[in-house]
Amino acid sequence: MTDAIPVRLRSRDWFDNPERWDMTALYLERFMNYGVTPEELQSGKPIIGIAQSGSDLSPCNRIHLDLAKRVRDGIRDAGGIPIEFPVHPIFENCRRPTAALDRNLAYLGLVELLNGYPIDGVVLTTGCDKTTPSQVMAATTVDIPAIVLSGGPMLDGWHEGELVGSGTVIWRSRRALAAGEIDEAEFLRRATSSAPSAGHCNSMGTASTMNAVAEALGLSLTGCAAIPAPYRERGQIAYRTGQRIVEMVHADLRPAKILTREAFLNAIATVTVCGGSSNAQPHIVAMARHAGVALEQDVWYDHGYHLPLLVNMQPAGKYLGERFHRAGGVPAAMWELLQAGKLHGDCLTVTGRTIAENLAEAESNDREVIRPFAEPLQENAGFLVLSGNLFDFAIMKTSVISAEFRKRYLSRPGAENVFEARAIVFDGSDDYHHRINDPALNIDADCILVMRSSGVLGWPGSAEVVNMQPPDALIRAGVNWLPTLGDGRQSGTSDSPSILNASPESAAGGGLAWLRTGDTIRIDLNTRRCDMLVEPEEIERRKGDGLPEIPANNTPWEQLAREKTGQLAEGAVLEFALDYRQTSKTLPRH
Ligand code: FES
Ligand code: MG
Repeated sequence: MTDAIPVRLRSRDWFDNPERWDMTALYLERFMNYGVTPEELQSGKPIIGIAQSGSDLSPCNRIHLDLAKRVRDGIRDAGGIPIEFPVHPIFENCRRPTAALDRNLAYLGLVELLNGYPIDGVVLTTGCDKTTPSQVMAATTVDIPAIVLSGGPMLDGWHEGELVGSGTVIWRSRRALAAGEIDEAEFLRRATSSAPSAGHCNSMGTASTMNAVAEALGLSLTGCAAIPAPYRERGQIAYRTGQRIVEMVHADLRPAKILTREAFLNAIATVTVCGGSSNAQPHIVAMARHAGVALEQDVWYDHGYHLPLLVNMQPAGKYLGERFHRAGGVPAAMWELLQAGKLHGDCLTVTGRTIAENLAEAESNDREVIRPFAEPLQENAGFLVLSGNLFDFAIMKTSVISAEFRKRYLSRPGAENVFEARAIVFDGSDDYHHRINDPALNIDADCILVMRSSGVLGWPGSAEVVNMQPPDALIRAGVNWLPTLGDGRQSGTSDSPSILNASPESAAGGGLAWLRTGDTIRIDLNTRRCDMLVEPEEIERRKGDGLPEIPANNTPWEQLAREKTGQLAEGAVLEFALDYRQTSKTLPRH
């Protein structure tokens, strides 16, 4: 499979540079102090980085500490020299004030490592939500051969004979707790049962979604995303990933050759059929923009919304990662799209072959988990893109709209998919927790809960706080979901049909800033409009009140991130970083 065209490896400029033999000696000596020989470093073999995202601080990715051994074996057997190094850890559900701050920070760090050291190609070790986009963004900026190795999801969680999925169990248990059905000890038992082994979230949350996206983009070996972390196939694909990156370096197969507009459209389609996370929106836009591909805001509607839900996995469906993998995983879901003519089959991938070639034998044999395209779990299951006087852009994940929610809000005779609701406005999640059960707010089933000050500037970083549950009393009365709306995000494991990622956010002067509790909001999913029914003069008058207050910066990075990061609609990237594409074209000076 190795392409025979010789490529001058960038590592040669460090280790084999006749014009600067003094520097070469300096570069060589310290690598040798752990036993590497000059013969290895000067052999002309590719130096392959293993970007190690696993650590005790990132338990979802910790399996990579073990997998790296198999990656090294693969690299060595294919004639490369492995060099493993750490990337900034990201742990979605423990990092305060939000792991969203870390995506761009890890990106920046990895760009410097890939650009500044003698690395010819890199294995990106992904898992937890933002570890995938951050590393792909960095490899794209530097543009050296790169391949994604997912660490894989945890084994399926079980509790009292029922499947319990990561995250999803938390949202469901919170409702059960509020309804008085369980106590705190039972809450903890359910939560911990969802995490039985090494690996990332076992539901189709953001982690499984983003690893599926990497595979759909053509950045990982076929079938890589869904193999559960403890399965023997995980070690085997780690080995093959190590082998393949060496061949990719010889073939000069860089991200720029793989990450085309069509590849991103494939990723968007794959997210829909998988019932994937709403966080795919900012992350896919971010990766695309770093790859020089502009995705218009309606791309989610035009290329995703009208596709069906095929993968029966929590939170949109029933099952978890093990069953999904055994049903054929991401290739089987993509196979359905390919047969239906909804996939660009000619996109090049890290295998050196096209998507269509990779999927030749990917048909699923478990139709309970991966439905045929013509017999989906749900039609029109992608993200709706909304706009109006509250924001220019927001998305709604339609695959998680429950029958109860659909009946109550979207099925009124004569006004299908249209409803009006009284706004209850919160500024940040502390405000929500303090006031949600306050009887004075008089919250009933005709209300919409609005979360502001939770975006890139407001939080800062943008937090997963929009999926607010109704007051306890309403849940006890059988109302499990109220409509929600906000300028933050929500967990990919959430089953709430929220309107999310509203941009511009309130802290940036978006329309949400001028909304007041008691205002009526009108949502029309047919025309994809969302407006506050407030006269323009009144909105102008309210601007005199100023923007809602937001917390001060606590760290230097929070300040820098607030100064340099764009809105969620645009992928929340460090805007200035887009000027630094393909840095590997110029080697850094000695
Ligand atoms: Fe890390 Fe879900 S919290 S993968
Ligand atoms: Mg998340």
